[in-house]
Amino acid sequence: MRLVLLGAPGSGKGTQATRLRDHYRVPHISTGDLLRAAVKVGTPLGLQAKAVMEAGALVSDDIVLAMLEERLSQGDTGGGYVLDGYPRNLAQANSLDALLARLGQSVERAIQLDVDTELLIARIAGRAKAEGRADDNPESVRKRLQVYEEQTAPVIEFYRHQQKLTAVDGVGSMEAVFERVVEALDSRYA
Ligand code: AP5
Repeated sequence: MRLVLLGAPGSGKGTQATRLRDHYRVPHISTGDLLRAAVKVGTPLGLQAKAVMEAGALVSDDIVLAMLEERLSQGDTGGGYVLDGYPRNLAQANSLDALLARLGQSVERAIQLDVDTELLIARIAGRAKAEGRADDNPESVRKRLQVYEEQTAPVIEFYRHQQKLTAVDGVGSMEAVFERVVEALDSRYA
């Protein structure tokens, strides 16, 4: 299964991707996690990305694509993967199609987690208290939501046009949302 998970910051992409990884036994590939790991280790790429991420903006397409290409070349991706946080704009959506075409693959399905803005903000505020992620402060969150509306929302149409999109209600318990996602995927793959 080659799956793209779409949704605003706080919509539950990471939460659901972890569950989908365990359920379908495919790796969870999060460009946010890859970038945060690079920042933590202090690689040249991480040093470049740090300020951009903290401000809630998008890291450059070239950097993220190179990172993703490297990750997809690893041996555990043959049976598919759950992509979380990529693509984030139309240029990335086209780059992903081109990259996968070179590998003889394509995105099979895109799931959009739908959650209203008030709840997104409440969830991120909860995580800010619990974990203190550097970009979970109110100013960065505003910026991340704006970037989502302006740059990432068009990606939903991109996959709708390819007839690969299913929108799933992302409100409810983590388990309830997971069940909806699996139902959407399994009905497609049955
Ligand atoms: P990224 O790490 O992708 O963050 P994001 O998209 O802002 O998403 P979040 O991690 O905030 O939310 P999520 O949807 O994963 O929700 P989660 O499951 O964590 O990107 C961070 C930054 O990296 C970007 O701003 C950018 O700078 C850079 N970046 C990443 N990818 C890039 C790319 N492709 N190109 C350029 N730059 C890129 O849940 C959130 C909280 O809610 C958690 O506390 C969770 O426990 C809780 N929660 C989840 N589901 C539920 C539920 N059903 N009920 C109650 N609580 C819930």
